[in-house]
Amino acid sequence: MRRFVTDEIEAVDAYKLMSGLIVPRPIGWIGTRSIDGINNLAPYSFFNGVAASPPTVMFAPTGQPHARKDTLANVRATEVFTVNIVDYGLGPSMNTTSGTYPDDVDEFEVAGLTVRESEAIDAPIVAEAPASFECRLLQIVDIGGAPMGSSVVFGQVVAFNVNERILNGTRVDQASLDPIGRHVGNLYSRGGELYEMRRPD
Ligand SMILES: Cc1cc2nc3c(=O)[nH]c(=O)nc-3n(C[C@H](O)[C@H](O)[C@H](O)COP(=O)(O)O)c2cc1C
Repeated sequence: MRRFVTDEIEAVDAYKLMSGLIVPRPIGWIGTRSIDGINNLAPYSFFNGVAASPPTVMFAPTGQPHARKDTLANVRATEVFTVNIVDYGLGPSMNTTSGTYPDDVDEFEVAGLTVRESEAIDAPIVAEAPASFECRLLQIVDIGGAPMGSSVVFGQVVAFNVNERILNGTRVDQASLDPIGRHVGNLYSRGGELYEMRRPD
C-alpha cells in the first residue's frame, strides 16, 4: 500500500486519486438558462442523489472560486436547473457540451440537441435524454478554496420526466436505460454486466 497524506500532495494529485477511485461516477448533464435567456448545458460527474424526501440532488462545479462555470453563474442567478440523464447514445453530444464555450454560446445548438421546456421551472431540458429532472436550488455550499475547491449545488427535484420506454411503474429498467459512467480522464464505462446481490435481512 502506498499512502498519500493530503497535506503532502498537490491538489491536482488529490483530484486524480478521487476521480480515479470514486468510479464509475454518474453524470448529471445540467441544463440552465442565463438571465439573458441563453441556454447552457454541461456535464458534471461530481453528481449524485442525496435524499428522497424531498428528492434532492447535488453537483459540484470544481476549480472554485476562480474557474468560470456558466452553470454555476446561471444557477446562482435563476435558482433553477435541470438534470438530464446520459445514455450511451448521447455520450458524444454530452462530451461536446463539456467544451469551454463563451457564456453567450448555447451548447444545445453546438451539440445539435433539441430544447424541451420544463413545466415547473424556467430551464431547458434535453429532449433526446431518456430522463430529466426539474430542480429548484436549495443551497450552495462552498467547500475549500483555490485551486480545486468546489461550490456544491444542492437542488430539490420538483418533477421527474422519464421516457415510457425505460419504465415499469416507477421502476427503471437498467438494461433499457443503457447508462454510462465516468472514470478518470477521458475514460467511461457502459452499463456493464448486471448481477444481483441480495442484502441481509
Ligand atoms: C463527463 C464529464 C464530467 C465532468 N464533471 C465535472 C464536475 O463534476 N465538475 C466540474 O466543475 N466540471 C466537470 N466537468 C467539466 C465541465 O463540463 C466543463 O468545465 C464545462 O465547460 C462547464 O461548462 P459550463 O461553464 O457551461 O458550466 C466534466 C466534464 C465531463 C466531460
